[in-house]
Amino acid sequence: MSHFLPVRLEHASRLINHGPTVLVTSAHGGRRNVMAAAWSMPVEFTPPRIAIVIDKRTFTRELAAASGTFGVIVPGAAAMDMTYAVGTTDGRELDKFNAFGIETVEGPVLGLPLIEKHCAAWLECKLIDEKHTEDAYDTCFAEVVAAAADPSVFSEGHWHLDASNEPLHTLHHLGAGNFVSASAMKKARALPR
Ligand SMILES: Cc1cc2nc3c(=O)[nH]c(=O)nc-3n(C[C@H](O)[C@H](O)[C@H](O)COP(=O)(O)O)c2cc1C
Repeated sequence: MSHFLPVRLEHASRLINHGPTVLVTSAHGGRRNVMAAAWSMPVEFTPPRIAIVIDKRTFTRELAAASGTFGVIVPGAAAMDMTYAVGTTDGRELDKFNAFGIETVEGPVLGLPLIEKHCAAWLECKLIDEKHTEDAYDTCFAEVVAAAADPSVFSEGHWHLDASNEPLHTLHHLGAGNFVSASAMKKARALPR
């Protein structure tokens, strides 16, 4: 007899998507913006391509579509309040960078506004023209053209999460402004067969 209870289908994605919440930055025509996104994933190895859900109604989507680019920032636990703030405010109404005192650095390849303070990594991305994105879905596909990370948490192609760098541990949204951050790493052992 199972002790599981049914989950409403509108909540089903929350069962599999508390991967790292990211920030999406964008700029075009003298305007710039940043929003939070919990729904992102890698889709191709080479060239590196990602998919990220950016609601058609957002200002981010407008700027990203106009410029053909966006930045993806991996915020650390220390950036939790800022992450929630930029995910619950409208960039058409305010410059969130100024309003929340968010410092930016300029992306080396696309010149996008990127964030490093309290953040673990960033990626500069070029939007891929995709008919489904324009017509129906909010999912945007993009090619990663530059990436960098704080070497205290990511180096040699791997994360290194331990008690010494907790403020930069990735953030994972559980809904309604509740987050967990990644714990210290644990190493899997081979199961006896
Ligand atoms: C933790 C968190 C995660 C979110 N994830 C997404 C997401 O994956 N995709 C999306 O379109 N909106 C997501 N949102 C909502 C946007 O961040 C929100 O609509 C934001 O206000 C858009 O800002 P903009 O209109 O200035 O671009 C999320 C919000 C929060 C707080």
